[in-house]
Amino acid sequence: MANISKFKQLVQSINKSSTIILIGFMGSGKTTMGEKLAKKLNYKFLDTDKEIENLIGMSIAQIFESKGEKYFRTIEKQFLRNLDVSNTVIATGGGLPCFNNNIDYLNQIGITVYLKYSAEDLYERLKSETEKRPIIAGKSNEELLLFIKELLYTRKAYYEKAQQIY
Ligand code: S3P
Repeated sequence: MANISKFKQLVQSINKSSTIILIGFMGSGKTTMGEKLAKKLNYKFLDTDKEIENLIGMSIAQIFESKGEKYFRTIEKQFLRNLDVSNTVIATGGGLPCFNNNIDYLNQIGITVYLKYSAEDLYERLKSETEKRPIIAGKSNEELLLFIKELLYTRKAYYEKAQQIY
């Protein structure tokens, strides 16, 4: 797991009412790192997936299964546009920046930080947790690596619009 000292430059660039937004692929540690950063900065912490689960009253997996991904992406967009974001570290769902111009919106409301990992590293981090995540559930190891490579390739352009990359 990435060490928080890695974010020294980020922590120094923060002023009192900043909003820090962590983006990146599933398994890149957005929630873990977000919680640590929020504690260090004495900020609130918010995880978009958790908030959406509470709002809808279903797990992300259930939302995907019963309502579909398109519905989930609409909720993500609406949720994001209605957030009060001052003094907050936000961990976003892995796909959030890649839909509905969300990355441009995120860049307007805060400091975006991409937690960047190679497809191979993400595979190592994700291979034992596929069942928790609907878009990789049921994949064999071989399918998973290929899937990560392809999805990372299509998402890279969105992630790399972040203001800081670690
Ligand atoms: C998704 C990532 C998940 C969650 C949903 C879809 C994606 O979030 O939002 O399962 O499209 O990459 P995490 O990155 O927190 O796992």
